[in-house]
Amino acid sequence: MGRPSEDHVKRPFGYAIVLFLLGAAVSLAASLDAAGHDKGRTLYRAKCQFCHGIRGDGKGPAAESLLEHPVDFTDSKFWKDDVTKKIYETVTQGKEMMPAFDLTPDDIAAITSYISHTFKNAPHDAKGGRGDQ
Ligand code: HEC
Repeated sequence: MGRPSEDHVKRPFGYAIVLFLLGAAVSLAASLDAAGHDKGRTLYRAKCQFCHGIRGDGKGPAAESLLEHPVDFTDSKFWKDDVTKKIYETVTQGKEMMPAFDLTPDDIAAITSYISHTFKNAPHDAKGGRGDQ
């Protein structure tokens, strides 16, 4: 009675260490995986979102003022061809209303990965997606 046994004092501390190590391992794995993703997101937001939209649907703030619509990344039609090549060529060479960007292959790969992870399977709100092809 009175003083807690040493066990009582140590155990919660031990759990805390185990949890901490587990958390560190998980977040390390996640951050390795997310490093490219975060970079891609940052680049996308800085360079592409303006026209292609935060949701990748081609409805960015500048889209209205363009004569041509920026491509909609949530449209399954976009994903039919070799997307990696299409994105790379479009970004380095530009296309019609879209300017070329001075980005490294690494940057473009990060953007490509972000676009495909985030928008490929995003709901395509426009006209019911699959049904209207
Ligand atoms: C100034 C507005 C604007 C910005 C900024 C912009 N785009 Fe575009 N993008 C367009 C327009 C407009 C089109 C449609 C061009 C066409 O099909 O003629 C397009 C088309 C595309 C296409 C499809 C090309 C094809 O052959 O179907 C890809 C891929 C693309 N953009 C990627 C990007 C990426 C990645 C970024 C950021 C690095 C970006 N765009 C930034 C306006 C923009």
